[in-house]
Amino acid sequence: MKIAGIITVTLLLTIAVLSVFSKIKSKEMAAQNEGESGTSTMMGPADKCIISVFGQEYDIGPFRALHPGGDVFKCGEDMTETFMQQHGKDLKRIEKFLVRDSKAG
Ligand code: HEM
Repeated sequence: MKIAGIITVTLLLTIAVLSVFSKIKSKEMAAQNEGESGTSTMMGPADKCIISVFGQEYDIGPFRALHPGGDVFKCGEDMTETFMQQHGKDLKRIEKFLVRDSKAG
């Protein structure tokens, strides 16, 4: 019985310590992200990130951080396969990111 108690306490302590650590880590990461903006590592104006899907270009820059599936995006690449694997061929959901050529009329 005693051993069970000791194990329980040890487990609880481990969980507590881990959660504190992960909180510190996420704060660090947030701070890092803040520090990054405005440096040369960024993508340029308004965090542009153009991907192509079925031959069309989409700027998913502002959406990257909001995507429920995480930041899976590779800017400048053809992501048709990746998109299709998850979302099929329904392009409606990304219609709003379509880059419409301003010169095309
Ligand atoms: C070119 C690649 C992709 C694009 C452009 C894309 C775009 C989107 C969009 C526009 C939404 C709707 C968000 C909303 O309604 O608020 C969405 C939802 C979602 N995406 Fe993606 N996605 C891509 C790839 C992926 C991949 C690879 C995964 C998984 C590994 C994924 C997982 C999800 C999930 C789980 C959701 C929420 C549920 C749903 O709406 O189906 N996505 N995505």
